[in-house]
Amino acid sequence: MTKQKHNFCLAIEFFRKISSMKQTKILFYSVFSILFLLVGAFAAFSQEDIETVNDSAFENQTRPPVVFFHDTHNENAAIEECNACHHMFEDGKRLDDDDSIGMECSECHCSKMKDSMADLIRVYHLQCGGCHLKQKTGPVMCGECHRKR
Ligand code: HEC
Ligand code: HEC
Ligand code: HEC
Ligand code: HEC
Repeated sequence: MTKQKHNFCLAIEFFRKISSMKQTKILFYSVFSILFLLVGAFAAFSQEDIETVNDSAFENQTRPPVVFFHDTHNENAAIEECNACHHMFEDGKRLDDDDSIGMECSECHCSKMKDSMADLIRVYHLQCGGCHLKQKTGPVMCGECHRKR
């Protein structure tokens, strides 16, 4: 048996012993429920929750919202730099060492005005579809991104 496994067995033994005592049992369960709540709260705030691109600039979408499991997508696509998407520009140049994390794309790529909506859609398509096209992987057909769910 490896040392690690051995320690694990000892730990189980220990917890069995203390949980057979009434008082510790209560303590044990309360610690567990608090941990459970904390994990739940953490999950609720973590960005893992992003499943679709949900830019507030789009009020009346004509197509189903685009499927985008943020973290999973970026892991599978092996994108290391956040600013590959959340970019920041200065004097027309993209900065390597800065990003716009936390901002919606529409905050810079103008939003509500009717003419700029077309441009907002264009840049989304350019950034998402452009990379898929360039890397010859990932969806490029309308229905593959605008999936009915
Ligand atoms: C492939 C493009 C892409 C990459 C790479 C990327 N993001 Fe995002 N991210 C998005 C899009 C699209 C949204 C959604 C924008 C919206 O809904 O307005 C978003 C939203 C977010 C949000 C907002 C969360 C919310 O609930 O509104 C955070 C925070 C974020 N990203 C952090 C990161 C971090 C940190 C990294 C790098 C580890 C990263 N992103 C890499 C595309 C990307
Ligand atoms: C902090 C402001 C800012 C944010 C936030 C931002 N961008 Fe940009 N983006 C710019 C600037 C500035 C340029 C370069 C000037 C231009 O062409 O508009 C640019 C250029 C682009 C281009 C190239 C445009 C072209 O015509 O070649 C694409 C595509 C793009 N952005 C997509 C996005 C997407 C998608 C998001 C959200 C994930 C996003 N941008 C978030 C400021 C921003
Ligand atoms: C820098 C490159 C890059 C950008 C930018 C990018 N993708 Fe992708 N995407 C990929 C790659 C690579 C794959 C294939 C990954 C794999 O093999 O699983 C992929 C796969 C996908 C898939 C299919 C797999 C899945 O996760 O469901 C969807 C949907 C998708 N991308 C949506 C988007 C959307 C929406 C955006 C813009 C917000 C975007 N992508 C931006 C590189 C990119
Ligand atoms: C690579 C993924 C991708 C592909 C492929 C794609 N789109 Fe989009 N599209 C987006 C994203 C991201 C947005 C902005 C967020 C959203 O609408 O959910 C968007 C927004 C739109 C919008 C504005 C919002 C709405 O629903 O009215 C229209 C219209 C649209 N796309 C039409 C199309 C058409 C038509 C095609 C095929 C020619 C297409 N898209 C292909 C990713 C994609």
